[in-house]
Parts: sequence; C-alpha cells; structure tokens
Amino acid sequence: MIALSMKEKNFVNENFRKFLHGADYNPEQWIETKEIWDEDMRLMKLAHCNEMSVGIFSWAALEPKEGEYDFSFLDEIIEKVYANGGVIILATPSGARPHWLADKYPEVLRVDATGRKMHFSARHNHCFTSPIYRKKVREINSALAERYGKHPAVIAWHISNEYGGECYCPLCQQAFRNFLREKYGSIQNLNRAYWSSFWSHTYDSFDQIEAPSPITEQSIHGLNLDWHRFATAQTVDFMKNEVEPIKAVCHQAKVTTNMMFEYYGYDYYQFKDVIDFASWDSYPLWHSGNQEETAERCAFWHDFYRSLKKKPFLLMESTPSLVNWHEYNKLKRPGMDNLASMQAVAHGSDSVQYFQWRKSRGSVEKFHGAVVDHEGTENTRVFRSVAKTGKILEKIQEIAGTGVDAQVAIVYDWENMWALDDSQGFAAKDKKYLETCYAYHRYFWKRGINCDIVDRNADLSKYKLIVAPMLYMTDARTEESLTSYVENGGTLYATYALGMVNDTDLCHLGGFPAGKLKEVFGIWNEEIDTLYPDQTGEVTFRGKKYIAHDYCELIHARGAKVLAEYAKDFYAGYPAATVHTYGKGKAYYQAFRDGGDFKDELLSDISEELNLYKNLPSSKDGLPFGVTAHTRTDGENRFLFVENYSEDEVKDISLNGNYEDMLGGGEVTKISLPAYGFAILKSKIQ
Ligand code: GAL
Repeated sequence: MIALSMKEKNFVNENFRKFLHGADYNPEQWIETKEIWDEDMRLMKLAHCNEMSVGIFSWAALEPKEGEYDFSFLDEIIEKVYANGGVIILATPSGARPHWLADKYPEVLRVDATGRKMHFSARHNHCFTSPIYRKKVREINSALAERYGKHPAVIAWHISNEYGGECYCPLCQQAFRNFLREKYGSIQNLNRAYWSSFWSHTYDSFDQIEAPSPITEQSIHGLNLDWHRFATAQTVDFMKNEVEPIKAVCHQAKVTTNMMFEYYGYDYYQFKDVIDFASWDSYPLWHSGNQEETAERCAFWHDFYRSLKKKPFLLMESTPSLVNWHEYNKLKRPGMDNLASMQAVAHGSDSVQYFQWRKSRGSVEKFHGAVVDHEGTENTRVFRSVAKTGKILEKIQEIAGTGVDAQVAIVYDWENMWALDDSQGFAAKDKKYLETCYAYHRYFWKRGINCDIVDRNADLSKYKLIVAPMLYMTDARTEESLTSYVENGGTLYATYALGMVNDTDLCHLGGFPAGKLKEVFGIWNEEIDTLYPDQTGEVTFRGKKYIAHDYCELIHARGAKVLAEYAKDFYAGYPAATVHTYGKGKAYYQAFRDGGDFKDELLSDISEELNLYKNLPSSKDGLPFGVTAHTRTDGENRFLFVENYSEDEVKDISLNGNYEDMLGGGEVTKISLPAYGFAILKSKIQ
C-alpha cells in the first residue's frame, strides 16, 4: 500500500486545471500570409490542442528598432488563440537577439574558450554577464509583462529558451573573480581550498585568476569545479534578471524555463528556486538500439524534472514525428508518439507539447517534425496521431495536477559528476557516472516501482530506500545527511567511489569513504582497481558467480557483514558487497561495477524486505521486455499507466486487483497491450 502524501492537486496555474496540449508556435514567420494564422486556429481545434507557446524567437519582430516596440502580431495572435479556446505560454525572447542589438552592442555576444569573439549568428550565444544584454532583456520583458501579464490567456511564462553554454569574455572573467572573492574571502583561503602549491600554481591575487580553458589553467580541480558553479550561478542570476520585471508587474505570474536531456553544463538543481514549475524538452532516439534502454533513460529525466519541484512538470517540447538534428532522423513508428506522450504524463507531466506547431518554410529547422506539415492540412498521419493524444488527454483530465508517490530515490548530482569526470584516475575517458545512475534506475523501471531523482544534499527522510551510485563527492553536509538518514531507519545503497573528495575536490584524509561514512557502512576502501575494457573480474554471491567490469574496489569489512566476495585476481576473498546495520537503518555497499544481474539480485531482496510498492505484480526478473508501469495519485485514487515499448504484443499482464479502464471503459484485472500500446487505469486506494 502506497504511503500517500499527495492529498491535493497541484497545478502549474490554478486558473487552468487541465492538461495542456500544444506546441511552440512561430506565427511571425507567416506574418505576410495571415490567412495561415486563421488556418492554424482551425487546425488547432481539430488537433485537440488547447495551448500555444509563442514569442520564443520573436525579438526582431517585437522590437524591430531599438526602443520601438511593435506588438501588433502578438496582440492579434494571443486574441486569436484565446478566442479559439486556447491559452498561451508566453516566452521571453532572450534566446536569440535582433541584428541591431548585436551590431550596436557587441559585448552581448559570446567569447569562446579559446578567446574568439563570436559574430552575430545562430542563437543562444549571449554573454550572461553583459550589463547591456541584461538591461535590454529586462526592458523587453517588462514591456511584455505590462502588455500581457494580466491577459487571461497567458497562463505561464517560458523564460528564454534552453539556457546553455559559457562565455569567456573579459566581463565574465571579472565576474568569475568576484564570485571567487566572495566565496573564499582571501586568496590564501582559495589557495588552501585548491591545493594550489601543487606545481607552484599558488595565486598571489584574485586578479591572476582566469577561467579554465584549453589555453589556461586546467590542472586545479577546485578551479574547474568552481567554473561550472559560476556558469550555473551566472545563468541563474541572468534568469532572475529576466523573471523580476515580469513578477514586478504580475505577482501571480508562473514562470519556467525549458531544460534539456542529459545537459551537462549547469547544475539544474540550482534552477529550482527561480522557477515556479519545471519543464523540459524531450527528444529520445526511439527505434535505435535497445528500446527498453531508451525508454528508461527518458523516464529518468521525467523523474528528475518531477522531483526538481516535487510537483507536476510540463513536457515543453517533443517531436510528433522526427527531429532534424540526430545523426539519423528516423520517424517515430505509428503509436510511438502517443506512447511517448503518455510516458511523460505517467511520470507527472501536466502537458504534451511539441516542437513545433507548423514546419517553417526555410532555414535549419524546415525538415523538423511538426504538427502541421508543409502540405498544410489535417490529412496527415502525424496530425491524426497528435489529435489522438489530444483526445486521450481530454478523457483523462482528472489526472491533471496529481502527484507521484515514490518510496525510492536515486542520487544524481552534477557537482559530483563534474568532479568525478575531472579526476585523473579510474578510467580516463569515461567514468560512466550517468550511465551508472541509469543502470540503478533501470532496476526500478523494470519492476514498475516509482522513483525520484535527488541531489546529494536533498532531504531524504521520506524515502524508504536511497541509491547513491558513485557518490564520489561528499562534503560535511552530505556526510551528515546520509548518516542521519540511516541512523533514523533509512536504507542506503552506495557503490564504489563513495566519499573520496570534498566540495573543492580535495581528497578526504583518514581513509575512504569520508569520515563517519566508514562507520555507517562499516567498511574501509583501501584501493580501487580499474580493469581494461576487455578484462572482467569475478564475484561470488550466494554460491553464484557474477562478472565485474571496469572497477573493483579493495575494501575491508570493519563491522559490516560480507555479502559477496571477489573470486579472481590477487584480491580474491576480499569483500565485494557488504551490509551494515547502523542506528535503525542499514547501509549496503557494492564495491564493483556489475553487468546488471548482481544489483538485480541484491536490490530485489532489499525491495522485498522494505515492501516497496510495485505498480504491477512482477516477478523477480521484472516485467516482460519493454513493459513498465507508473502511478500518479490524488490521495484517493491511484492512476496506473502501463506502457509497452516493445515491438510485440504483450498478453495477459496481471494487475494489482480491479481497475477501471479509463480509455477502453469497464473493469479489468488483466490487460494485453499491442506494440507501443499503453493503458490508463484507475482504482480507489483502499
Ligand atoms: C530544442 C529547441 C527548439 C528546437 C528544437 C528542435 O532544443 O528548444 O527551439 O530547436 O530543439 O528539436
């Protein structure tokens, strides 16, 4: 039985208590053929769409000359969409600027890591420090907020577009120095924190500091880490500068920014206090390689965005058919678009939105999938598929605003990833941190167990189980949080590379894992062996052999019970996995990288012991290939999504009792799903 914490619905905007179904809409591209706008309205209704995201790249149309605004196209479009039953997510246009702005104020353009000044081009190439760019963005955002902030059609704000990248201009270099001065107070503190006496790289003053790049200092790991932190902080600050003028005019405004899949450059956890709800753009490589893996990885990010604000998020962009920027731009097979859309909803999205509404006629995205093709009518396979999703969303409206109750969380942490990747040790090329997090997430995905994704310093108290793969960086706060979590009855599962460095990337002294974690886990990690890619290690667990890949840590049990042992090489007989009771909880440690089977075995014991709620009855090996299940809840009802990502029909999937079939009608206790099929079911919580 789920431990329910979701008693109320939580909407992106209380005034719009429904699912959003819509798209990025660029009517300014069709300003000379306005009959297309009217056609768009007709098609919007036929597609069962109720929302359009506008203004994302409209700056040149909105401010054709400095200080001279022309809102006529936006006025007209917002009224049209609203009159036709739709609402608007209004974007701020900072993702791409007009030519005049870059020509007159070149400081707004980026400088790359090698010192090259970018010319006016592309998009997303602004300097995030430039006072002029910030001022210009504030001005246009204020004007937009004054004009539309209180318009009943505008239910939310889309701040910029996919913030990303870094700028190395003199303004950013100076801002970086100020950031470090503020953080460390004195250059002596910084030198200490960076261990900069190494190679005589001691700084005499903050003025000597340069951003790490291929032509500057890169050997100081604390500096590299702080540069990532600075890039994040400067972007967050830039975003605040965008949000403030909107909220000043319209206190109730709900803002988000569209984030990405596997984005490496910024610590997205730092975005959470500036946005009212999370949103992201999802473009998985369906139909390539292992479809289960594709589905699970996409699910990971849905779980992440839901966990970020602990409430429903928006799927801001997805393609209804294909993209134009994968190496091979394959069409989604019939059914896959509906399934991928429902996947987002199953994980907590309150929207299905597309890039883009109508295919542009020219430029780089003219062949990117869209709801409306160049052909221009509703008579396409893709349009029909979108309309189908719209009808489904209308049918399951009562699910909008509901939450997801997860008893398990995986720790995935950007700072940890940056530090681990920077460490010159282990395997040089790829530490596979994210892949390792996926591998543990996959265990839960395959068994239909809801799972959150959290950072290393998150509040863990509500979870029965925390899995912390390769948690290399632990500062005092992390150490304290993990310790008290276990002490108070939590179950913690950690792996090799735990607790090796602090938050300025200095090694912890006195043995790994850091400080108290040695007591919590009852182990000491003395050394770590990295295997060549063509080598494997061997582990024995309950008389059965398991293969080890990449990493084998040589640990000693110091109070922990040994669960598995190495069976090969000079460390045969050393512990390979342990468990230790600490306070009221338990701490498991897996010292080697397995191929999946070992963690499945151990986690299935742990899941049994903790009685983790499974959304479907599943065997120890999990659900049939390609099948998974997720639930949302309003506290009284459980809404069950069963998804089949395989290319085969899956028959007779048993449910946990009786469910109402929200799409097909009637009561069911078993279901069958065609290839790319899904079911959405409902039951009262007992
Ligand atoms: C996104 C971007 C959109 C569009 C889309 C194409 O990353 O936000 O503007 O370019 O990709 O897939």
